Amino acid sequence: MKILKNSLLLLSVAVLSSCNVQKEKEAVSLKDSYKNDFYIGTALSADQIEEKNAKEDSLIVKQFNAITAENIMKSMYVHPEKDKYDFALTDKFIAYGKKNKMFIHGHTLIWHSQLAPWMQKIKDSTEMKAFMKEHITTIVSKYKGQVDSWDVVNEALNEDGTLRKSIFLDKLGEKYLVDAFKLAAAADPKVDLYYNDYNNEEPAKRAGNIALIKKIKAGGGKIDGVGIQAHWKLAYPSLEEIEKSILEYSALGIKVAFTELDISVLPNPKDFSGADVNQKFEGDPKMNPYPEKLPDSVQLKLAERYASIFKLFLKHKDKISRVTFWGVHDGQSWLNDWPIKGRTNYPLLFDKNLQPKKAYNSVIQLKETKQ
Ligand code: G3I
Repeated sequence: MKILKNSLLLLSVAVLSSCNVQKEKEAVSLKDSYKNDFYIGTALSADQIEEKNAKEDSLIVKQFNAITAENIMKSMYVHPEKDKYDFALTDKFIAYGKKNKMFIHGHTLIWHSQLAPWMQKIKDSTEMKAFMKEHITTIVSKYKGQVDSWDVVNEALNEDGTLRKSIFLDKLGEKYLVDAFKLAAAADPKVDLYYNDYNNEEPAKRAGNIALIKKIKAGGGKIDGVGIQAHWKLAYPSLEEIEKSILEYSALGIKVAFTELDISVLPNPKDFSGADVNQKFEGDPKMNPYPEKLPDSVQLKLAERYASIFKLFLKHKDKISRVTFWGVHDGQSWLNDWPIKGRTNYPLLFDKNLQPKKAYNSVIQLKETKQ
């Protein structure tokens, strides 16, 4: 009888302590684990800004302390006609960030993509100059003191580091870049101003990006940081290139942010063909290898990749202002539809059922082991 009693006691102690471990794990969050290092952000869809799903909302509030609007702050949504702005959703986005005491990042002021149709018809330099002044001044002034940082210019570079032939370059020449930063600083002198791009951790584009930042500074523009979007793969880019980028950009006296982090686990059409013929890959099972579930072996690779990246981020935390994931959970990722529509990708830390993945644990565990 006594033995039975003791065993029962031991069993209940074990159950209780495993409950405590579980509770402790549940209490842990990305934002708290990294609170002394850098902001941990996420990109929000329109539905998430409107708090349409209570479970998603509590996950967002628990895990993240910085937000970016995935789409609704882009020109076509916020400035749909020449004389008409639509701030309904952006106002909600700002209110959401304030309510939850989050760092609010504005994405984006000058970008060649997702322009409203009327903007694409701007015909000469006078009209383009007037557009830039009015657009930047109106938006930045409206959210002065509320938005903490802006992507002033997004994706102005080609892969070889030269300037992209955008409508802005076409109408105004390269001066549009420094002008954009000057206009933003004039509208809100205290807000942090970023240049944001993808693949700008790669050598040629990075060199172009560094030259661009120097030109903005030399021209009298205020630039506070560079955004490395970080739409990455399991094996690309190398940690060495990421580290060189952190060091070289911060040597310019600016902050480095990782602004749109996700890691695709799916094959790329380019792995199979040099030509850009995405259409023919749609519906091809070879291109969508995990439609139901990510195999454990790949789950593990993703976890290891995230761990090595965050380890590097921690090594350079003094230079990094923010790490933002491009989405809250796998189900909402743009990578399910790009570069091939209708695939199932697994690029984030939470799965489509909002459950933390191995990758989440690996990022959290880094902070639990001694640095
Ligand atoms: O709003 C329309 C909706 O009315 C329509 O029914 C639906 C049908 O496809 O499309 C909706 O628009 C989509 C929009 O996202 C909002 O969901 C567009 O088709 C779709 O192309 C658009 O994709 C966005 C993409 O930027 C556009 O370039 C992605 O969600 C967004 O994640 C992505 O984000 C960019 C960053 O801004 C800049 N860096 C690269 C990053 C990934 O491409």
